[in-house]
Formats: sequence, structure tokens, C-alpha cells
Amino acid sequence: MRNDIESIFFTEDAIAEKVAALGAQISKDFAGMDPIFVGVLKGCFVFMADLMRSVTIPCSVDFMAVSSYRGTTSTGAVEIHKDLSQNIEGRHIIMVEDILDSGMTLSYLQNYLANRNPASITIATLMDKPSRRKAPVYARYSCFEVPDAFVVGYGLDYNEKYRNLPYIGVLKPEIYMAEE
Ligand code: IMP
Ligand code: MG
Repeated sequence: MRNDIESIFFTEDAIAEKVAALGAQISKDFAGMDPIFVGVLKGCFVFMADLMRSVTIPCSVDFMAVSSYRGTTSTGAVEIHKDLSQNIEGRHIIMVEDILDSGMTLSYLQNYLANRNPASITIATLMDKPSRRKAPVYARYSCFEVPDAFVVGYGLDYNEKYRNLPYIGVLKPEIYMAEE
């Protein structure tokens, strides 16, 4: 698999350092607030697992699984495959994303969850591609800013592969061309 990677953007060590710092920051900012971390599957699962273990305050975890509606991407509507398993009214929500790209998914989910009257909704993303933003989404926490490139590893996939790479990198162009 390493042979399919053109270059490594973030090493295992660099990611571990950023994620630990984020966990410490969130523990400070949300002390006494018992937040619920809401992961957006599947891409978030590796980040979420590491982040949770660096959070030192009481908290809980939940997941949503979504996909974009085909043909209606301009509206940003997403299909909910798995919804939350707990009531979030009056609770502090921290949405955990692998990468914030157009922002359409999170913008939709933020509104969707806001209807349930949580105390607050905060976004924590591993990576942010601000140059691609279409919807107005603000990530209070972001570990890495990335250029407009398609990255894989550490939970992120290309056609469901490469999620298990421990680092984040970009694929060689011939990998995409072979698929087309
Ligand atoms: P958006 O912000 O609604 O455009 O979509 C964000 C989602 O698209 C992320 O949660 C990822 O699942 C996926 N995505 C966006 N950019 C990348 C990338 O570079 N690599 C892998 N998945 C990506
Ligand atoms: Mg995702």
C-alpha cells in the first residue's frame, strides 16, 4: 500500500502530537460540561478513537452515518443512515469530522441537530480544506489545514481503501487513472 502513496503529508508522530494537544484543549474548554462527541462515520473512526483517549474529562460518544443525496448535492441535503442513540437536548455537542471540505455535510448536520435543542454545537475536525468551502461552516478546532488535494489514511479512504494507513498522504495519480 505504501507504494500507492506519492507523498506523506502528516506522519504518525505529527498526528499523535496534534491529536493529543486537541484532546487536552477540549478537556480544558469543556471541563464540567459533560460533552457528547458525535463522530460522522466512517472517516472519523481512527481520529475519534485517538482523540477520546486524550480527553480527560467525563464525556460520552455517539455516531452518525450519512451520505450525500445523489443529484441534490447543491442543496447539501444528506441521507441519514444512522442517527444518534441518545437525547441531546440541553447537551454540549462536539462534532468530530475527518476532513472539512465543501462543508455541505456538516452544515446540514449542524442544522439537523440544532433542531433538537442542544446547549451548543462545536466542530472539531482533523483536517480542513478551506479553499474548497461552499457552505458557511466554522470549525473551532482543526488539527491540520490542507491544500486542495485528495488525501487518504488515518481513517480516510479512496474507494473504501487506505483507511488503515497510520499516516496521511496523497495517492499517486496512476491509482486514480487505473480506476477510471
Ligand atoms: P463535505 O465537507 O461535505 O464536502 O464532505 C466532507 C466529507 O467528504 C469528508 O467527511 C470525507 O468523508 C470526504 N472527503 C473530502 N475530502 C476528502 C479527501 O481528501 N480524502 C478523503 N475523503 C474526503
Ligand atoms: Mg467523513
